[in-house]
Order: sequence, then C-alpha cells, then structure tokens
Amino acid sequence: MRSFLGRDILSLKDFERMEYFRVFQVCEDLKPYARDRRNGDLLKEKTLVTAFYQPSTRTRLATEAAMHRLGGRVVGFSDAKMTRAGDFYQESIKDTFHMLEYYGDVIAIRHFQQGAPAEAARWASVPVINCGDGWGEHPTQVLTDLYTIWSERGTLDGLKVLCVGDMRMRTMHSLLYAMSQFDMPAFVVSPPEMSLLPQFKAELDERNVLYTEVPSVEDVIAEADVIYMEPVVQADYTKSREEAAGERGTTPAAYKVTREMLRRKAKRDAIILHSLPRMDELPEDVDATRHARYWIEAFNGVVLRMALLALVLGAVE
Ligand code: CP
Repeated sequence: MRSFLGRDILSLKDFERMEYFRVFQVCEDLKPYARDRRNGDLLKEKTLVTAFYQPSTRTRLATEAAMHRLGGRVVGFSDAKMTRAGDFYQESIKDTFHMLEYYGDVIAIRHFQQGAPAEAARWASVPVINCGDGWGEHPTQVLTDLYTIWSERGTLDGLKVLCVGDMRMRTMHSLLYAMSQFDMPAFVVSPPEMSLLPQFKAELDERNVLYTEVPSVEDVIAEADVIYMEPVVQADYTKSREEAAGERGTTPAAYKVTREMLRRKAKRDAIILHSLPRMDELPEDVDATRHARYWIEAFNGVVLRMALLALVLGAVE
C-alpha cells in the first residue's frame, strides 16, 4: 500500500481499496480520544492551517477539533474577505498557498472553484486536504460517510446505496468515485435538472460503477441498505457565499424520505446518512427512528479527520 505521509487528499478518484480500510483502522485506533473527550499529544509538534473561502460548520470545525484532539495547533481563516484574497488585491491561489505553507505543516482548504485545492497543492509543499471545492469533490466528508457505514454495518461490499438529491453535489461525486472500489450498487434519484452530468457518467462507466437512475425514492427505498441524502433545495456551490433571500422552495415528494415512508417501505436495518445541513428533504422526526445515523456521522467526522491528519503528517504509518 502507498504511504499517506506527505500526501495531498484532493479526490477519491485515486484512492485504492486497501487505503480506505487503512484509514478506517486508524480511525478505530484514535476514536477513544474523541469518545472520551480528551486531548492527546500525537501531533503536538504540528500546526494545521485552515483556509476556508466558503462557509462551513462541520468540515472546518471537525478538522480543527481533530487537530486539537491530537495536541496540534491551528491557525487560519474562515472568511476570505478578511484576507488579501478577498479584498482589492484578490490575491491568487498561487501566492496565497506559496505563503501559507510557511505557517503550518498541513493545509485544509474549502473553495468555491472546482480544482482550487489541486492548484493550491501545486504551490504548497506540505499536504493539502480538499474540504470541498465548488461542485467538484468532498473527500473528507465521504471518507467519514464510508467509515460510518463500515462501522455501523461491518462491511461496504454487498450494500445497496440509494443516493437522493442534487447529483451535481461534490459529496455525490466523491461517493460514486469511491464506490468503484467496492461491490456497492447505487440507485440514483434526482430532479432531471440536477441529474448526473454526461461527462461524470462516462467516468463512472469507465470505472465500472454500477448505478441505476430512478425517478422517485418511493420506487427503490425497499431495496436500500444505505440511504444517502443531499438537499435539492440548494445553494450555488460556485459562489463564495449565498444568502437566504426570499421564499425558498420546498422539496418534491420524490426526493424526500419521511418517517411514514420508512415505516411502510424501508428495510428494518436500513441506515440514513446526510452530510448536513438539511432542508425539508429529511424531516426532523426521522431523527428519532432507528434508521438515522447522521449524528454519529457528524461525530465520526472528527475521528476521520484525526486519522487523516495523523496519516499525512506521518504520526502513524
Ligand atoms: N458536511 C459539510 O460539508 O458541512 P459544512 O458545509 O457545514 O462543512
């Protein structure tokens, strides 16, 4: 297996099967710190730089919390408007990251431009972690999701995954790339204007990912082991920020999962994941069902980032 030491985590396209399991094993080893709410010293000599050009609640704070849990330090920005990249100068990715590498040992970036983390990695010699780039990918979220499925169900192979929502979403891209490494057939449900793009479908076909597009959750929920949800009432991920303005739409029934539908149709052991934030596609009364795993998923988000930081910084091999 390739070493993670010094590696950029930009995409799940190039993640190999055994590397997922190595990450999950390190998660298991480090999980007690997060579970017991204590901080260790594995990364006490190291500093994380967070460079977030788009809003985030979970990804930035889970990555920062992971660094603190392992005894490391954190510097960074959560709003590029407070930097020279967001004012008159519009400082380039090249100049910004060429400099940020002097401020820490690993950089976590979220950006509204697809490919910005890869561009940052060209100019920084320390590992760069993609925390979401436009509509591109969201590898740390999907590693969290796969770790959650694996730890809840004991396997990834043989599970049928129902993907519901906007298929242009970066999470959906990373998830479907990852499925190429496992025996995980997918059902894909989205509004026509948010369906898988032809170029992405061609890539999935080339990678031998098995997926079937269906019009409505209701048609296939009975077959799903994992229900993976994203909103269809969505922000534009190519913008640095989108304010809530005026009336927001509601989610058509075909793209919702309700408590009543779960009771009537879902497998008794089906689990629901959602990267959050949610809109009305996943009503709050689903939280109290045995299917909900998105709060465990949120906890695992810290564990997964601990594992990735420890691996790319060489604290574990
Ligand atoms: N899951 C996720 O990416 O959430 P944030 O946008 O809050 O980081």
